[in-house]
Amino acid sequence: MPRRILGKIVTGYFLAILCAALVLELYVRGVVPAGGAVLLNALLIGLLLWWTLRAVMSPLEEITEVAQAMARGELQREIPIYSRDEIGRLAGAINHMAQRLSRTIRDITEEKNRAQAILNSMADGVIAVDGGGRVLLVNPAVEKIFGITQADSRGKSVIGVIRNFELERLLQQALATREQVMRELVILTPEPRVFRVHITPLRGADERRGGVVALLRDITEHRRLEQVRTEFVANVSHELRTPLTSIRGFLETLLDGAVEDPSTARRFLEIMALETNRLTRLIDDLLHLSRLEDRRTVLRRERVDMAVMVGRVVDIFQTGAREKGLELRVQVETHLPPVSGDPDMLARVLVNLVDNAVKYTPEGGRITIRAEVVGGHLRVSVADTGAGIPEESLSRVFERFYRVDKARAREQGGTGLGLAIVKHIVEAHGGRVWAESEVGRGSTFTFELPLA
Ligand SMILES: Nc1ncnc2c1ncn2[C@@H]1O[C@H](COP(=O)(O)OP(=O)(O)O)[C@@H](O)[C@H]1O
Ligand SMILES: [Mg+2]
Repeated sequence: MPRRILGKIVTGYFLAILCAALVLELYVRGVVPAGGAVLLNALLIGLLLWWTLRAVMSPLEEITEVAQAMARGELQREIPIYSRDEIGRLAGAINHMAQRLSRTIRDITEEKNRAQAILNSMADGVIAVDGGGRVLLVNPAVEKIFGITQADSRGKSVIGVIRNFELERLLQQALATREQVMRELVILTPEPRVFRVHITPLRGADERRGGVVALLRDITEHRRLEQVRTEFVANVSHELRTPLTSIRGFLETLLDGAVEDPSTARRFLEIMALETNRLTRLIDDLLHLSRLEDRRTVLRRERVDMAVMVGRVVDIFQTGAREKGLELRVQVETHLPPVSGDPDMLARVLVNLVDNAVKYTPEGGRITIRAEVVGGHLRVSVADTGAGIPEESLSRVFERFYRVDKARAREQGGTGLGLAIVKHIVEAHGGRVWAESEVGRGSTFTFELPLA
Protein backbone atom coordinates (compact mmCIF):
# COMPACT_ATOMS: atom_id res chain seq x y z
CA MET A 1 0.00 0.00 0.00
CA PRO A 2 1.71 3.21 -1.18
CA ARG A 3 1.12 5.07 2.06
CA ARG A 4 3.76 7.75 1.89
CA ILE A 5 3.21 8.83 -1.70
CA LEU A 6 -0.52 8.80 -1.07
CA GLY A 7 0.21 10.92 2.03
CA LYS A 8 1.97 13.53 -0.10
CA ILE A 9 -0.90 13.64 -2.58
CA VAL A 10 -3.53 13.80 0.15
CA THR A 11 -1.55 16.55 1.87
CA GLY A 12 -1.40 18.50 -1.39
CA TYR A 13 -5.12 17.98 -1.95
CA PHE A 14 -5.91 19.05 1.61
CA LEU A 15 -3.71 22.14 1.34
CA ALA A 16 -5.41 23.05 -1.98
CA ILE A 17 -8.84 22.96 -0.29
CA LEU A 18 -7.44 24.98 2.60
CA CYS A 19 -6.06 27.58 0.17
CA ALA A 20 -9.39 27.78 -1.70
CA ALA A 21 -11.20 28.24 1.61
CA LEU A 22 -8.70 30.92 2.68
CA VAL A 23 -9.07 32.86 -0.61
CA LEU A 24 -12.88 32.53 -0.34
CA GLU A 25 -12.71 33.94 3.18
CA LEU A 26 -10.56 36.88 2.03
CA TYR A 27 -13.03 37.56 -0.79
CA VAL A 28 -16.04 37.40 1.56
CA ARG A 29 -14.33 39.83 3.90
CA GLY A 30 -13.76 42.09 0.92
CA VAL A 31 -9.97 42.03 1.29
CA VAL A 32 -9.54 40.98 -2.33
CA PRO A 33 -11.83 41.58 -5.32
CA ALA A 34 -13.40 38.66 -7.24
CA GLY A 35 -10.87 38.77 -10.10
CA GLY A 36 -8.00 38.86 -7.61
CA ALA A 37 -9.42 35.94 -5.65
CA VAL A 38 -9.64 33.77 -8.80
CA LEU A 39 -6.07 34.70 -9.78
CA LEU A 40 -4.68 34.07 -6.28
CA ASN A 41 -6.48 30.76 -6.06
CA ALA A 42 -5.16 29.60 -9.44
CA LEU A 43 -1.64 30.65 -8.39
CA LEU A 44 -1.73 28.85 -5.04
CA ILE A 45 -3.21 25.63 -6.50
CA GLY A 46 -0.70 25.69 -9.35
CA LEU A 47 2.16 25.99 -6.84
CA LEU A 48 0.79 23.13 -4.74
CA LEU A 49 0.34 20.90 -7.80
CA TRP A 50 3.90 21.63 -8.91
CA TRP A 51 5.26 20.83 -5.44
CA THR A 52 3.33 17.53 -5.23
CA LEU A 53 4.36 16.36 -8.72
CA ARG A 54 8.00 17.27 -8.10
CA ALA A 55 8.07 15.31 -4.87
CA VAL A 56 6.93 12.23 -6.74
CA MET A 57 8.46 12.63 -10.23
CA SER A 58 12.01 13.85 -9.72
CA PRO A 59 13.25 10.77 -7.77
CA LEU A 60 11.57 8.59 -10.42
CA GLU A 61 13.41 10.43 -13.16
CA GLU A 62 16.69 9.90 -11.37
CA ILE A 63 15.92 6.20 -10.90
CA THR A 64 15.10 5.85 -14.59
CA GLU A 65 18.39 7.50 -15.60
CA VAL A 66 20.56 5.28 -13.38
CA ALA A 67 18.60 2.13 -14.28
CA GLN A 68 19.23 2.86 -17.96
CA ALA A 69 22.96 3.25 -17.22
CA MET A 70 22.91 -0.08 -15.39
CA ALA A 71 21.24 -1.70 -18.37
CA ARG A 72 24.18 -0.45 -20.46
CA GLY A 73 26.49 -2.38 -18.10
CA GLU A 74 27.49 0.35 -15.61
CA LEU A 75 26.59 -1.90 -12.69
CA GLN A 76 28.79 0.01 -10.26
CA ARG A 77 26.37 2.99 -10.48
CA GLU A 78 24.18 3.58 -7.45
CA ILE A 79 20.85 5.41 -7.07
CA PRO A 80 20.94 7.95 -4.21
CA ILE A 81 18.22 7.31 -1.65
CA TYR A 82 16.61 10.52 -0.30
CA SER A 83 13.53 9.15 1.40
CA ARG A 84 12.27 5.99 2.97
CA ASP A 85 9.08 5.90 0.95
CA GLU A 86 8.20 3.50 -1.86
CA ILE A 87 10.45 5.36 -4.24
CA GLY A 88 13.34 5.08 -1.80
CA ARG A 89 12.64 1.36 -1.44
CA LEU A 90 12.49 0.95 -5.22
CA ALA A 91 15.87 2.66 -5.54
CA GLY A 92 17.27 0.38 -2.80
CA ALA A 93 15.94 -2.73 -4.55
CA ILE A 94 17.45 -1.71 -7.87
CA ASN A 95 20.82 -1.01 -6.21
CA HIS A 96 20.73 -4.40 -4.54
CA MET A 97 19.84 -6.14 -7.78
CA ALA A 98 22.73 -4.41 -9.57
CA GLN A 99 25.16 -5.55 -6.85
CA ARG A 100 23.95 -9.14 -7.03
CA LEU A 101 24.19 -9.12 -10.78
CA SER A 102 27.70 -7.73 -10.73
CA ARG A 103 28.81 -10.37 -8.18
CA THR A 104 27.29 -13.16 -10.28
CA ILE A 105 29.00 -11.87 -13.40
CA ARG A 106 32.31 -11.72 -11.54
CA ASP A 107 31.89 -15.32 -10.32
CA ILE A 108 31.03 -16.56 -13.79
CA THR A 109 33.97 -14.71 -15.32
CA GLU A 110 36.35 -16.14 -12.73
CA GLU A 111 35.03 -19.64 -13.36
CA LYS A 112 35.41 -19.18 -17.09
CA ASN A 113 38.96 -17.82 -16.73
CA ARG A 114 39.91 -20.77 -14.57
CA ALA A 115 38.59 -23.25 -17.11
CA GLN A 116 40.34 -21.29 -19.87
CA ALA A 117 43.63 -21.30 -17.96
CA ILE A 118 43.42 -25.08 -17.55
CA LEU A 119 42.71 -25.57 -21.25
CA ASN A 120 45.50 -23.18 -22.19
CA SER A 121 48.14 -24.87 -20.09
CA MET A 122 47.22 -28.41 -21.08
CA ALA A 123 49.88 -30.26 -23.02
CA ASP A 124 47.17 -32.36 -24.63
CA GLY A 125 45.12 -30.97 -27.48
CA VAL A 126 41.40 -30.39 -26.93
CA ILE A 127 38.81 -29.91 -29.69
CA ALA A 128 35.11 -29.57 -28.85
CA VAL A 129 32.52 -29.66 -31.62
CA ASP A 130 28.74 -29.30 -31.46
CA GLY A 131 26.23 -31.79 -32.81
CA GLY A 132 26.41 -30.15 -36.23
CA GLY A 133 30.15 -30.72 -36.43
CA ARG A 134 31.01 -27.05 -35.88
CA VAL A 135 34.00 -26.12 -33.74
CA LEU A 136 33.06 -24.88 -30.26
CA LEU A 137 36.56 -24.62 -28.92
CA VAL A 138 40.18 -25.53 -29.63
CA ASN A 139 42.98 -25.07 -27.11
CA PRO A 140 46.50 -23.71 -27.83
CA ALA A 141 47.93 -27.23 -28.12
CA VAL A 142 45.55 -27.90 -31.03
CA GLU A 143 46.28 -24.48 -32.50
CA LYS A 144 49.94 -25.47 -32.58
CA ILE A 145 49.40 -28.97 -33.97
CA PHE A 146 47.25 -27.85 -36.88
CA GLY A 147 48.56 -24.30 -37.30
CA ILE A 148 45.11 -22.76 -36.76
CA THR A 149 43.66 -20.23 -34.32
CA GLN A 150 40.66 -20.44 -32.04
CA ALA A 151 39.31 -17.16 -33.43
CA ASP A 152 39.43 -18.37 -37.03
CA SER A 153 38.04 -21.83 -36.39
CA ARG A 154 35.20 -21.21 -33.96
CA GLY A 155 31.79 -21.87 -35.48
CA LYS A 156 33.30 -23.36 -38.64
CA SER A 157 32.83 -26.93 -39.74
CA VAL A 158 35.55 -29.08 -38.18
CA ILE A 159 36.18 -30.63 -41.62
CA GLY A 160 37.58 -27.39 -42.99
CA VAL A 161 39.57 -26.57 -39.86
CA ILE A 162 41.64 -29.69 -39.14
CA ARG A 163 43.05 -31.02 -42.33
CA ASN A 164 43.39 -34.63 -41.32
CA PHE A 165 41.14 -37.13 -43.00
CA GLU A 166 41.50 -39.83 -40.35
CA LEU A 167 40.69 -37.53 -37.42
CA GLU A 168 37.72 -36.05 -39.27
CA ARG A 169 36.40 -39.53 -39.86
CA LEU A 170 36.75 -40.41 -36.16
CA LEU A 171 34.94 -37.22 -35.12
CA GLN A 172 32.12 -37.95 -37.58
CA GLN A 173 31.90 -41.47 -36.24
CA ALA A 174 31.67 -40.25 -32.63
CA LEU A 175 29.05 -37.65 -33.59
CA ALA A 176 26.97 -40.27 -35.35
CA THR A 177 27.20 -43.05 -32.77
CA ARG A 178 27.52 -40.91 -29.59
CA GLU A 179 30.02 -43.46 -28.36
CA GLN A 180 33.63 -43.13 -27.22
CA VAL A 181 36.30 -43.56 -29.87
CA MET A 182 39.96 -44.23 -29.15
CA ARG A 183 42.64 -44.56 -31.80
CA GLU A 184 46.28 -43.84 -32.53
CA LEU A 185 46.95 -41.54 -35.45
CA VAL A 186 49.95 -40.16 -37.25
CA ILE A 187 49.45 -36.44 -37.83
CA LEU A 188 51.79 -34.29 -39.90
CA THR A 189 52.65 -31.20 -37.84
CA PRO A 190 54.36 -30.91 -40.44
CA GLU A 191 56.82 -33.55 -39.20
CA PRO A 192 54.94 -36.79 -38.48
CA ARG A 193 53.95 -37.27 -34.84
CA VAL A 194 51.98 -40.06 -33.21
CA PHE A 195 48.87 -39.06 -31.25
CA ARG A 196 46.52 -41.10 -29.12
CA VAL A 197 43.09 -39.64 -29.87
CA HIS A 198 40.28 -40.05 -27.36
CA ILE A 199 36.84 -38.79 -28.43
CA THR A 200 33.99 -38.62 -25.90
CA PRO A 201 30.40 -37.38 -26.28
CA LEU A 202 29.86 -34.04 -24.52
CA ARG A 203 27.78 -34.45 -21.39
CA GLY A 204 25.94 -31.79 -19.40
CA ALA A 205 23.85 -28.85 -20.53
CA ASP A 206 24.78 -29.30 -24.16
CA GLU A 207 23.84 -32.95 -24.24
CA ARG A 208 20.73 -32.38 -26.30
CA ARG A 209 22.81 -30.85 -29.03
CA GLY A 210 25.02 -33.92 -29.17
CA GLY A 211 28.55 -32.47 -29.40
CA VAL A 212 31.79 -34.37 -28.79
CA VAL A 213 35.17 -33.50 -27.32
CA ALA A 214 38.43 -34.90 -28.66
CA LEU A 215 41.60 -35.20 -26.60
CA LEU A 216 44.91 -35.56 -28.47
CA ARG A 217 47.92 -36.86 -26.59
CA ASP A 218 51.32 -36.74 -28.25
CA ILE A 219 52.91 -40.15 -27.71
CA THR A 220 55.73 -39.79 -30.24
CA GLU A 221 58.44 -39.75 -27.58
CA HIS A 222 56.83 -42.70 -25.83
CA ARG A 223 56.81 -44.67 -29.08
CA ARG A 224 60.41 -43.70 -29.80
CA LEU A 225 61.54 -44.94 -26.38
CA GLU A 226 59.68 -48.19 -26.93
CA GLN A 227 61.47 -48.52 -30.25
CA VAL A 228 64.84 -47.82 -28.60
CA ARG A 229 64.12 -50.42 -25.95
CA THR A 230 63.11 -53.03 -28.51
CA GLU A 231 66.25 -52.34 -30.55
CA PHE A 232 68.36 -52.50 -27.40
CA VAL A 233 66.96 -55.91 -26.47
CA ALA A 234 67.57 -57.14 -30.02
CA ASN A 235 71.14 -55.77 -29.92
CA VAL A 236 71.88 -57.30 -26.53
CA SER A 237 70.54 -60.67 -27.68
CA HIS A 238 72.70 -60.50 -30.77
CA GLU A 239 75.80 -59.48 -28.80
CA LEU A 240 75.29 -62.31 -26.31
CA ARG A 241 74.59 -64.80 -29.04
CA THR A 242 77.83 -64.25 -30.97
CA PRO A 243 80.27 -65.41 -28.25
CA LEU A 244 77.84 -68.12 -27.11
CA THR A 245 77.59 -69.56 -30.63
CA SER A 246 81.36 -69.58 -30.84
CA ILE A 247 81.73 -71.29 -27.44
CA ARG A 248 79.13 -73.88 -28.37
CA GLY A 249 80.82 -74.60 -31.70
CA PHE A 250 84.20 -75.28 -30.06
CA LEU A 251 82.55 -77.26 -27.29
CA GLU A 252 80.79 -79.53 -29.77
CA THR A 253 83.98 -80.02 -31.76
CA LEU A 254 85.80 -80.95 -28.54
CA LEU A 255 83.06 -83.42 -27.61
CA ASP A 256 83.16 -84.87 -31.13
CA GLY A 257 86.72 -86.02 -30.52
CA ALA A 258 89.01 -82.99 -30.65
CA VAL A 259 89.45 -83.39 -26.91
CA GLU A 260 91.68 -86.41 -27.68
CA ASP A 261 94.26 -84.15 -29.33
CA PRO A 262 95.82 -82.14 -26.48
CA SER A 263 97.23 -79.28 -28.58
CA THR A 264 93.93 -78.70 -30.47
CA ALA A 265 91.97 -79.04 -27.22
CA ARG A 266 94.16 -76.39 -25.58
CA ARG A 267 93.77 -74.00 -28.51
CA PHE A 268 89.99 -74.42 -28.46
CA LEU A 269 89.81 -73.98 -24.70
CA GLU A 270 91.85 -70.78 -24.95
CA ILE A 271 89.42 -69.39 -27.52
CA MET A 272 86.52 -70.41 -25.28
CA ALA A 273 88.14 -68.64 -22.33
CA LEU A 274 88.51 -65.50 -24.48
CA GLU A 275 84.86 -65.62 -25.51
CA THR A 276 83.79 -66.21 -21.91
CA ASN A 277 85.76 -63.12 -20.89
CA ARG A 278 84.01 -61.14 -23.56
CA LEU A 279 80.65 -62.35 -22.27
CA THR A 280 81.58 -61.36 -18.73
CA ARG A 281 82.69 -57.89 -19.86
CA LEU A 282 79.52 -57.44 -21.84
CA ILE A 283 77.33 -58.39 -18.90
CA ASP A 284 79.39 -56.16 -16.56
CA ASP A 285 78.95 -53.21 -18.92
CA LEU A 286 75.22 -53.90 -19.29
CA LEU A 287 74.78 -54.02 -15.53
CA HIS A 288 76.76 -50.83 -15.18
CA LEU A 289 74.63 -49.06 -17.78
CA SER A 290 71.39 -50.17 -16.18
CA ARG A 291 72.60 -48.98 -12.78
CA LEU A 292 73.49 -45.62 -14.31
CA GLU A 293 70.06 -45.36 -15.89
CA ASP A 294 68.27 -46.24 -12.69
CA ARG A 295 67.14 -42.91 -11.28
CA ARG A 296 67.31 -44.30 -7.77
CA THR A 297 71.10 -44.59 -7.95
CA VAL A 298 72.58 -41.58 -6.17
CA LEU A 299 76.02 -40.38 -7.20
CA ARG A 300 78.67 -40.52 -4.55
CA ARG A 301 80.12 -37.04 -4.24
CA GLU A 302 83.73 -36.70 -3.18
CA ARG A 303 86.52 -34.31 -3.95
CA VAL A 304 88.46 -35.94 -6.75
CA ASP A 305 92.02 -34.96 -7.62
CA MET A 306 92.20 -35.54 -11.37
CA ALA A 307 96.02 -35.36 -11.46
CA VAL A 308 96.25 -38.35 -9.13
CA MET A 309 93.56 -40.21 -11.03
CA VAL A 310 95.25 -39.68 -14.41
CA GLY A 311 98.50 -40.98 -12.90
CA ARG A 312 96.80 -44.16 -11.67
CA VAL A 313 95.07 -44.87 -14.96
CA VAL A 314 98.30 -44.31 -16.90
CA ASP A 315 100.01 -46.85 -14.61
CA ILE A 316 97.39 -49.44 -15.56
CA PHE A 317 98.04 -49.01 -19.28
CA GLN A 318 101.79 -48.25 -19.25
CA THR A 319 103.05 -51.83 -19.71
CA GLY A 320 100.51 -52.74 -22.38
CA ALA A 321 101.21 -49.57 -24.30
CA ARG A 322 104.97 -50.09 -24.20
CA GLU A 323 104.54 -53.66 -25.47
CA LYS A 324 102.55 -52.28 -28.40
CA GLY A 325 105.19 -49.64 -29.06
CA LEU A 326 102.95 -46.74 -28.03
CA GLU A 327 104.09 -43.64 -26.22
CA LEU A 328 101.86 -42.54 -23.32
CA ARG A 329 102.24 -38.86 -22.45
CA VAL A 330 100.69 -36.93 -19.59
CA GLN A 331 100.29 -33.13 -19.56
CA VAL A 332 98.58 -32.09 -16.36
CA GLU A 333 98.45 -28.46 -15.23
CA THR A 334 100.05 -27.90 -11.84
CA HIS A 335 97.75 -27.18 -8.88
CA LEU A 336 94.72 -28.60 -10.63
CA PRO A 337 91.61 -27.79 -8.55
CA PRO A 338 89.47 -30.77 -7.48
CA VAL A 339 86.14 -31.78 -8.98
CA SER A 340 83.24 -33.23 -7.04
CA GLY A 341 82.18 -36.69 -8.12
CA ASP A 342 82.19 -40.42 -7.78
CA PRO A 343 85.88 -41.51 -7.97
CA ASP A 344 85.10 -45.03 -9.24
CA MET A 345 82.87 -43.73 -11.99
CA LEU A 346 85.29 -40.99 -13.06
CA ALA A 347 88.13 -43.53 -13.12
CA ARG A 348 85.96 -45.67 -15.38
CA VAL A 349 85.57 -42.75 -17.79
CA LEU A 350 89.34 -42.33 -18.05
CA VAL A 351 89.95 -46.08 -18.33
CA ASN A 352 87.44 -46.40 -21.18
CA LEU A 353 88.93 -43.48 -23.11
CA VAL A 354 92.56 -44.56 -22.67
CA ASP A 355 91.62 -48.17 -23.42
CA ASN A 356 90.05 -47.08 -26.73
CA ALA A 357 93.08 -44.94 -27.60
CA VAL A 358 95.41 -47.88 -26.95
CA LYS A 359 93.15 -50.31 -28.86
CA TYR A 360 92.59 -48.16 -31.91
CA THR A 361 96.11 -46.73 -32.35
CA PRO A 362 98.55 -48.79 -34.37
CA GLU A 363 102.13 -49.45 -33.32
CA GLY A 364 104.45 -46.48 -33.00
CA GLY A 365 101.64 -44.11 -32.16
CA ARG A 366 101.36 -41.59 -29.35
CA ILE A 367 98.64 -41.04 -26.79
CA THR A 368 98.47 -37.75 -24.89
CA ILE A 369 96.35 -37.24 -21.79
CA ARG A 370 95.83 -33.60 -20.93
CA ALA A 371 94.08 -32.04 -17.93
CA GLU A 372 93.56 -28.28 -17.55
CA VAL A 373 91.11 -25.67 -16.31
CA VAL A 374 89.09 -23.97 -19.05
CA GLY A 375 86.41 -21.42 -18.24
CA GLY A 376 85.45 -22.69 -14.78
CA HIS A 377 85.56 -26.32 -15.88
CA LEU A 378 88.08 -29.09 -15.61
CA ARG A 379 88.84 -30.28 -19.12
CA VAL A 380 90.42 -33.67 -19.70
CA SER A 381 91.32 -34.92 -23.15
CA VAL A 382 92.73 -38.15 -24.50
CA ALA A 383 94.33 -37.68 -27.91
CA ASP A 384 95.76 -40.41 -30.09
CA THR A 385 97.49 -40.70 -33.44
CA GLY A 386 95.35 -43.66 -34.49
CA ALA A 387 93.10 -44.50 -37.40
CA GLY A 388 90.61 -41.72 -36.65
CA ILE A 389 86.84 -41.76 -36.98
CA PRO A 390 84.95 -40.70 -40.11
CA GLU A 391 82.88 -37.53 -39.77
CA GLU A 392 79.51 -39.32 -40.09
CA SER A 393 80.36 -41.69 -37.20
CA LEU A 394 81.65 -39.05 -34.78
CA SER A 395 78.31 -38.28 -33.16
CA ARG A 396 77.24 -41.92 -33.16
CA VAL A 397 80.21 -43.46 -31.34
CA PHE A 398 78.51 -42.59 -28.04
CA GLU A 399 75.48 -44.76 -28.94
CA ARG A 400 75.25 -48.20 -27.43
CA PHE A 401 76.79 -50.94 -29.55
CA TYR A 402 77.83 -48.49 -32.23
CA ARG A 403 81.20 -49.40 -33.69
CA VAL A 404 82.87 -47.81 -36.67
CA ASP A 405 84.41 -51.04 -37.87
CA LYS A 406 82.37 -53.87 -36.39
CA ALA A 407 84.74 -56.72 -37.23
CA ARG A 408 87.84 -54.86 -36.03
CA ALA A 409 86.20 -53.68 -32.81
CA ARG A 410 85.04 -57.18 -31.98
CA GLU A 411 88.46 -58.58 -32.75
CA GLN A 412 89.81 -56.04 -30.19
CA GLY A 413 87.40 -57.51 -27.65
CA GLY A 414 85.26 -54.38 -27.31
CA THR A 415 81.64 -54.47 -26.19
CA GLY A 416 80.58 -51.28 -27.97
CA LEU A 417 79.25 -49.96 -24.67
CA GLY A 418 82.35 -48.14 -23.39
CA LEU A 419 81.60 -44.69 -24.81
CA ALA A 420 77.87 -44.96 -23.95
CA ILE A 421 78.93 -45.48 -20.34
CA VAL A 422 81.40 -42.58 -20.55
CA LYS A 423 78.70 -40.22 -21.81
CA HIS A 424 76.29 -41.36 -19.12
CA ILE A 425 78.76 -40.83 -16.28
CA VAL A 426 79.98 -37.43 -17.51
CA GLU A 427 76.43 -36.14 -17.97
CA ALA A 428 75.39 -37.47 -14.56
CA HIS A 429 78.19 -35.27 -13.16
CA GLY A 430 76.80 -32.23 -14.95
CA GLY A 431 79.49 -32.27 -17.62
CA ARG A 432 79.72 -32.95 -21.35
CA VAL A 433 81.83 -35.10 -23.61
CA TRP A 434 82.66 -34.90 -27.30
CA ALA A 435 84.95 -36.32 -29.93
CA GLU A 436 87.04 -34.74 -32.66
CA SER A 437 88.85 -36.72 -35.27
CA GLU A 438 90.60 -36.70 -38.60
CA VAL A 439 90.71 -39.97 -40.49
CA GLY A 440 94.27 -41.25 -40.72
CA ARG A 441 95.62 -38.70 -38.22
CA GLY A 442 93.98 -39.56 -34.94
CA SER A 443 91.14 -38.80 -32.55
CA THR A 444 90.67 -36.66 -29.45
CA PHE A 445 88.03 -37.43 -26.85
CA THR A 446 87.41 -34.58 -24.41
CA PHE A 447 85.23 -34.23 -21.36
CA GLU A 448 84.52 -31.30 -19.08
CA LEU A 449 83.35 -31.34 -15.48
CA PRO A 450 82.27 -28.43 -13.29
CA LEU A 451 84.83 -27.58 -10.60
CA ALA A 452 84.03 -28.54 -7.00
N1 LIG B 1 90.31 -43.56 -29.98
C1 LIG B 1 89.57 -44.08 -30.98
N2 LIG B 1 90.03 -44.14 -32.25
C2 LIG B 1 89.27 -44.64 -33.23
N3 LIG B 1 88.04 -45.13 -33.05
C3 LIG B 1 87.53 -45.11 -31.82
C4 LIG B 1 88.26 -44.58 -30.72
N4 LIG B 1 87.49 -44.67 -29.62
C5 LIG B 1 86.32 -45.23 -30.02
N5 LIG B 1 86.35 -45.51 -31.33
C6 LIG B 1 85.25 -46.10 -32.13
O1 LIG B 1 84.07 -45.97 -31.37
C7 LIG B 1 83.46 -47.23 -31.17
C8 LIG B 1 82.76 -47.27 -29.85
O2 LIG B 1 83.67 -47.25 -28.77
P1 LIG B 1 83.29 -47.98 -27.43
O3 LIG B 1 81.92 -47.54 -27.07
O4 LIG B 1 84.38 -47.73 -26.44
O5 LIG B 1 83.22 -49.49 -27.85
P2 LIG B 1 84.37 -50.58 -27.95
O6 LIG B 1 85.61 -49.96 -27.45
O7 LIG B 1 83.90 -51.66 -27.08
O8 LIG B 1 84.42 -50.97 -29.37
C9 LIG B 1 84.59 -48.20 -31.30
O9 LIG B 1 84.12 -49.46 -31.72
C10 LIG B 1 85.46 -47.58 -32.35
O10 LIG B 1 84.97 -47.90 -33.62
MG1 LIG C 1 85.80 -48.97 -25.57
